Amino acid sequence: MENKTKRNSFKGSIGFVLAAAGSAVGLGNIWRFPYLAAKDGGGTFLAVYIVLALTFGFTLLITEVAIGRKTKQSPLTAYGMLHPKWKWLGVIACLIPAIIMPYYCAIGGWVIKYFFEYVTGNGTVSAKDGYFTSFIAGDVEPIVLMLVFILAVTFVVYRGVNKGIEAFSKVLMPILVILVVVIAVFSLTISHTDADGVTRTGLEGLKIYLIPDFKGMTLGGFFSVLLDAMGQLFFSISVAMGIMVAYGSYVHDDASLNKSVNQIEIFDTAVAVLAGVMIIPAVYTFSGRDGMAASGPGLMFVSLPKVFTAMGGIGNFVGCLFFAMVLFAAITSAISIMEAIVSSFMDKFSLSRAKSVIIVATVTVIAGVIVCLGYNSLYFELTLPTGSTAQILDLMDYISNNLLMPAVAIGTCILVGWVVKPKTVIDEVEKSGGKMGRKKLYQVMIKFAAPILLSILFLKSLGL
Ligand code: PHE
Repeated sequence: MENKTKRNSFKGSIGFVLAAAGSAVGLGNIWRFPYLAAKDGGGTFLAVYIVLALTFGFTLLITEVAIGRKTKQSPLTAYGMLHPKWKWLGVIACLIPAIIMPYYCAIGGWVIKYFFEYVTGNGTVSAKDGYFTSFIAGDVEPIVLMLVFILAVTFVVYRGVNKGIEAFSKVLMPILVILVVVIAVFSLTISHTDADGVTRTGLEGLKIYLIPDFKGMTLGGFFSVLLDAMGQLFFSISVAMGIMVAYGSYVHDDASLNKSVNQIEIFDTAVAVLAGVMIIPAVYTFSGRDGMAASGPGLMFVSLPKVFTAMGGIGNFVGCLFFAMVLFAAITSAISIMEAIVSSFMDKFSLSRAKSVIIVATVTVIAGVIVCLGYNSLYFELTLPTGSTAQILDLMDYISNNLLMPAVAIGTCILVGWVVKPKTVIDEVEKSGGKMGRKKLYQVMIKFAAPILLSILFLKSLGL
């Protein structure tokens, strides 16, 4: 347990990198990245994404980590410390994880459900039509499983920065990588002949994923790939919701931020690319090109179980590995979401970690129950400006990811680029010795390119 006067810090930079990567590697890497890559011309999307990660992603990530380390504060108070007129940015940055936490835990509960089905050898049940929708509409089960998930996350965050977050990330993240690699390799070895006698193989699926497809690509088309890649990247590296500020505040003053931020990005991008190698060949082999149209919950909880069933005997085992991996990815992300809020309350109201954890967990449970009931007694249908229909969960997701996150990111760019100036971040990065890499690029990105690109993304979310 840390005391109130001395702030805890990660013991080593590996601990920090794995914890931050644990936050970054989440459902987005698994259920959205492969789908976007398949939709946006395979290798074209990958290339655009990697270039953006090195420029745009690097800029946002290093900015937040540096703000955290410089102020030694969590998001709620960090921005106000940089500039007193910008306190409000901290309030919104802390509100975002508070909105995300309950629904992320509800989804965590769904993952537990599927994991148990596969562990107990019942995986094929989950491939039946309507299984997913009737499960989430249940009265008790989704709520109970969500509580189990919240309990696990709460336990880790309660144990604190070293014994909780750092220790758990050091164990879970390497296992996660091994699982992803094993499933990806397996996915490349499969082949299947469907009822019409058509045989497809995993390697053919890999080609669809990796080889750029410029056919019919117009400038407008390229622009929409760019926006897709940026929206995905932005969500994937867990910026604009205070998390990286909170984690940055636990980084030692002599650690190299440059190196750590690069490693986090490589980790996150590698897992996303491998998730594609894992999913696209498998879905292509068993369901053809049409099967690749699903993303989000539909991909993970509806399409993939069908693929595991089609694999026959080994399918249940592969499903078991897959959902274990997803569970780890979801838990480490949820830990980071909770930590951003818990540490904010600790800093702002001088609360002990235990008290702060209890408050946050209680609110999460209440809000989480409401999210679960959104598919049951509180069901409604709403059409979002983006055109999709929404229940409570999607509405919260829309407000946090599409509206508030771009707003916080734009605010951060203006604050750092124009008010306190990029030098603040550069000095913080160089404090530990050594020069900051891509410095010129950083200045151009934070002042001009990033806020402009983010504003376009924001307008698109409003349906404009
Ligand atoms: N970055 C995570 C992903 O790619 C998602 C996430 C969202 C993590 C919100 C933490 C908080 O899935």
